[in-house]
Amino acid sequence: MSDFVLTDKPEQQNIIDLTGICQSYDGGQNYVIKDLNLVIEDKPAQGQFVVILGMSGSGKSTVLRYIAGLQQPTEGAVLIHGKPVGGGAKRASMVFQQYSSLPWMTVLDNVGLALRYEGIKKSARDAKAMELIEMVGLAGHENKYAQYPSLSGGQLQRVAIARSLLANPDILLMDEPFGALDIRTRLQMQDLLMRIWNKFHSTIIFVTHDIREAIYLGDDIYILKSQPSRFVKHIHVDLPLNRTNEVKRNPRYNELVHEVEDLMMTVAEMG
Ligand SMILES: Nc1ncnc2c1ncn2[C@@H]1O[C@H](COP(=O)(O)OP(=O)(O)OP(=O)(O)O)[C@@H](O)[C@H]1O
Ligand SMILES: [Mg+2]
Repeated sequence: MSDFVLTDKPEQQNIIDLTGICQSYDGGQNYVIKDLNLVIEDKPAQGQFVVILGMSGSGKSTVLRYIAGLQQPTEGAVLIHGKPVGGGAKRASMVFQQYSSLPWMTVLDNVGLALRYEGIKKSARDAKAMELIEMVGLAGHENKYAQYPSLSGGQLQRVAIARSLLANPDILLMDEPFGALDIRTRLQMQDLLMRIWNKFHSTIIFVTHDIREAIYLGDDIYILKSQPSRFVKHIHVDLPLNRTNEVKRNPRYNELVHEVEDLMMTVAEMG
């Protein structure tokens, strides 16, 4: 466990680099984010699971929006594979807490959406989309509209995950994706995500308020302080990879839960 340090190595291209990020919404009188840095190394054959924790309003969604290219900071650089977002690198796609799918389109069309923009013909698009629909356990639902209640909350998140994977399995941004789900569905979705991660070796950046979820899923956890926001703590989760529910009985898991809870309280007092 360490204070947050910039681990930029010039010889290696990082998958994500946020450097010197500052954010003001009132022309520079007040800064909600100041000197925020985040470096995520590229681990191509392995991928990684990064979790962002922070109090409400600490800038977690904003950080994901920067990486997705949905927002530009007032100051600072946001690089993906060493290139400015939108400047050549493939865009990362985002799974939100809710409303991630287009309700007027079927599951099949939602999942295949990215290929439509690439001009790929419908039969090829549908075949690729079906592979992912099967992978996330939604076969048989592909012709339903992607809306509640014909699909449950958990099923709708499966649609969003499948769509993101098809668009770009390299980087997946997930903003409290399981926040609205019941405990059983949530645990099932966590395990689905682990399986996906093992298959695609994606870099997943995952926002949650749930510390147990953060430790179960994450390899590395970064904690944001607020007012103004920046990353202040990095925790490497020293639990075995390829986790299953068994890990929750590992004493180290429970120790980490307590350590991170304490850290969150310390960081909350910082601002
Ligand atoms: N357009 C805006 N104008 C003014 N302030 C904004 C704007 N957008 C975001 N903010 C502020 O930026 C800060 C970070 O917001 P953000 O939504 O990223 O927080 P968060 O950590 O995702 O919170 P939560 O856990 O509640 O989702 C907040 O203080 C918010 O009020
Ligand atoms: Mg948020």
